[in-house]
Amino acid sequence: MKSIYTLVPFFCVAGATSLNYCPFLGAVYPSPKTLCNDTAFQTVKHNISLSLDAIISGNSSLLGSTYVSNTTSLSVQIWSTSNTEPEFEYYYTSPLTKNATTGVTEVDEDTVFRIGSASKLWTVLLLLIEKGDAILSDRVVKWVPELADAAREIGDDFNRINHLDWSEVTLFELASQLSGIARDYAFGDLITLGLDLTQDGFPQVSEVPPCGTLAAGACNRTQYLQGILQAHPTFPTAYAPSYSNANFQILAYALEAMTNETYDTLLSRDLVKPLGLEHLTSTAPADKYGIIPWDAITSYWALNTGDEAPAGGLYASTKDMVKLGRAVLNSTLLSPAMTRRWMKPATHTGSLTASVGAPWEIYTIPTSRAVDVYTKSGDLGSYSSMTALSPDHGVGFTIIAAGNDTTAVVQTLTQAMMEMLVPALDAAAKEEAVVRFTGTYAHHGSNNKPNSSISITTDGGPGLRVEDWVNDSVDMIATIEALTGYTSTPSVRLYPTGLESSGQVSFIAIIQQLENMSSSSDVPCTTWFQVDSQVYGNVGVDEFLFEVDGRGDAVGLSPRALRTVLPRVSKI
Ligand SMILES: *[C@@H]1O[C@H](CO)[C@@H](O)[C@H](O)[C@H]1NC(C)=O
Ligand SMILES: *[C@@H]1O[C@H](CO)[C@@H](O)[C@H](O)[C@H]1NC(C)=O
Ligand SMILES: *[C@@H]1O[C@H](CO)[C@@H](O)[C@H](O)[C@H]1NC(C)=O
Ligand SMILES: *[C@@H]1O[C@H](CO)[C@@H](O)[C@H](O)[C@H]1NC(C)=O
Ligand SMILES: *[C@@H]1O[C@H](CO)[C@@H](O)[C@H](O)[C@H]1NC(C)=O
Ligand SMILES: *[C@@H]1O[C@H](CO)[C@@H](O)[C@H](O)[C@H]1NC(C)=O
Ligand SMILES: *[C@@H]1O[C@H](CO)[C@@H](O)[C@H](O)[C@H]1NC(C)=O
Ligand SMILES: *[C@@H]1O[C@H](CO)[C@@H](O)[C@H](O)[C@H]1NC(C)=O
Ligand SMILES: *[C@@H]1O[C@H](CO)[C@@H](O)[C@H](O)[C@H]1NC(C)=O
Ligand SMILES: *[C@@H]1O[C@H](CO)[C@@H](O)[C@H](O)[C@H]1NC(C)=O
Ligand SMILES: *[C@@H]1O[C@H](CO)[C@@H](O)[C@H](O)[C@H]1NC(C)=O
Ligand SMILES: *[C@@H]1O[C@H](CO)[C@@H](O)[C@H](O)[C@H]1NC(C)=O
Repeated sequence: MKSIYTLVPFFCVAGATSLNYCPFLGAVYPSPKTLCNDTAFQTVKHNISLSLDAIISGNSSLLGSTYVSNTTSLSVQIWSTSNTEPEFEYYYTSPLTKNATTGVTEVDEDTVFRIGSASKLWTVLLLLIEKGDAILSDRVVKWVPELADAAREIGDDFNRINHLDWSEVTLFELASQLSGIARDYAFGDLITLGLDLTQDGFPQVSEVPPCGTLAAGACNRTQYLQGILQAHPTFPTAYAPSYSNANFQILAYALEAMTNETYDTLLSRDLVKPLGLEHLTSTAPADKYGIIPWDAITSYWALNTGDEAPAGGLYASTKDMVKLGRAVLNSTLLSPAMTRRWMKPATHTGSLTASVGAPWEIYTIPTSRAVDVYTKSGDLGSYSSMTALSPDHGVGFTIIAAGNDTTAVVQTLTQAMMEMLVPALDAAAKEEAVVRFTGTYAHHGSNNKPNSSISITTDGGPGLRVEDWVNDSVDMIATIEALTGYTSTPSVRLYPTGLESSGQVSFIAIIQQLENMSSSSDVPCTTWFQVDSQVYGNVGVDEFLFEVDGRGDAVGLSPRALRTVLPRVSKI
């Protein structure tokens, strides 16, 4: 019998991490269910806690003096879809806030912050809840008729460099930052900031926005759309992502038109009531609920964002943000299929590790594979927020800060959290998978010796490893080697497919000759080409199905092409 054992010394010498296993997109183990008991998660929690302490005491190379602990307060939670309680909490109240005369004097999970552009995420969620995702292929002019009218008015003066062709823009491109429209109108314009730059090289101009200043207040719909129509496009539609608040203000106009409801009604009907949120609003709640650094004007606590609220004006507590994030990952408000479709990139950026969705900001963390973390950041005045979701682990985190330099604080913390958490969550998932799935599955022959068996183990590589696979004393791995024309024993590793039903968890095998795989991550993985490529009587040779008990622990394993279930006879 040809045994895969002969390859083990080679693996050890080569070092498992240098092998390019090329797992599929997605999880390499089922999501961890009992994080609080996983040692990898305990360790990372401890490390994260120490890192946060160091940052706040100004003793971390991560942020140094960028973290102004006299003024900047922080709220952090890590949460999972298998637990309604937070997995990790951390709050810091700055002396400025402890001493505040308006707003809270102690930060906790109920403290209300402004979440800035995280509002965009909940605006898209509202649209998906109301109308599903098919409507995203509608042209925006169907729902915001002023844009069609204005395009007609431009008529012969239309010039692609100066005007966006609105008839080409779909709702999907608004939602995924691909429309090519200007970033904003009036808000943030150097002229509306009240600076006189005519002495600093800029000319006197007549295009002074009549709105969008603290004094004049938010632009109304007419003013905003007129301004946006005069603004030059950044790129042709569907060319490259360019961050724009205008996309979401216009998307919200479309949402109101297609539902004939106000944004606030939808917010309350679709999110606040079903999830029992206490503080998600588009206008400022009573001061006593919020953290208000310095005062309500300086911090932008009181800034009325008007029709721009769906793009960046919402208020929420940490608890609300966590409930929303958990509802997304747990498909509470959308079907699982629509959630998966939503949580996909719409486009790359110019960087290999950053992509853009609708309106996800997606960061790819390299581990044994590319792990995509779906995030949405937000900044407004003295406030910054981060919502981060890892679909591979069913885990997310929320960071909110108020004070000085919060954008840098939240961005840096997010990067550090992702880099610490992702490997730890893989390790936690593996700890649970070892208990749930590894061991020997076998039928015994008449002489009471196993004549059909499969051994499942783990090693330094991703997924579960099939070490031995014998059916009626025939070495199945040798059979596969002969069938595929491989010249040496192939590696057989199992990865979860995400297909589960009561009492059953499905996995798929990658069967490959590892020594021929390049160890360079620059070489594209082609394992996904091989899925289901060998079929026996309409069942893939790579299909494996674990039968599990009420706790989720495997009691049997079926290599499905063989139409047999082998009972689990020993654990590792
Ligand atoms: C964690 O482990 C303890 C001790 O083994 C056990 O009693 C408890 O049920 C476990 N908790 C979870 C959530 O699995
Ligand atoms: C925790 O920090 C220690 C010391 O910096 C490091 O060796 C270890 O790998 C970290 N563990 C995790 C899970 O982040
Ligand atoms: C700052 O960090 C250094 C090195 O990690 C440590 O020795 C020192 O005690 C820390 N100081 C404070 C105030 O935490
Ligand atoms: C922070 O507050 C402490 C104590 O009130 C003070 O000594 C220190 O100068 C302050 N630091 C800054 C950067 O304002
Ligand atoms: C996630 O959804 C499942 C099924 O809909 C539900 O049983 C579970 O309680 C939810 N988990 C959380 C943490 O809300
Ligand atoms: C707290 O407020 C008091 C009174 O306004 C002021 O004297 C004191 O300096 C403040 N302390 C801090 C840390 O801001
Ligand atoms: C917007 O404001 C302008 C200037 O105040 C006003 O003329 C116009 O009627 C307003 N439009 C809407 C829709 O309120
Ligand atoms: C709903 O439709 C009616 C009739 O067209 C319109 O008057 C009203 O403003 C619409 N309401 C909203 C919230 O869009
Ligand atoms: C913090 O922000 C306040 C309000 O914007 C500003 O007045 C102050 O100079 C800032 N302090 C630091 C250290 O950046
Ligand atoms: C292997 O075991 C099966 C099930 O117990 C039995 O039917 C079969 O005859 C055995 N084959 C050999 C070669 O022992
Ligand atoms: C493999 O196992 C199945 C199911 O136990 C059995 O029917 C089949 O004959 C076996 N194959 C060989 C080559 O013995
Ligand atoms: C693996 O690499 C060896 C040496 O380059 C080559 O001879 C062999 O054909 C390759 N096998 C496959 C399946 O590509």
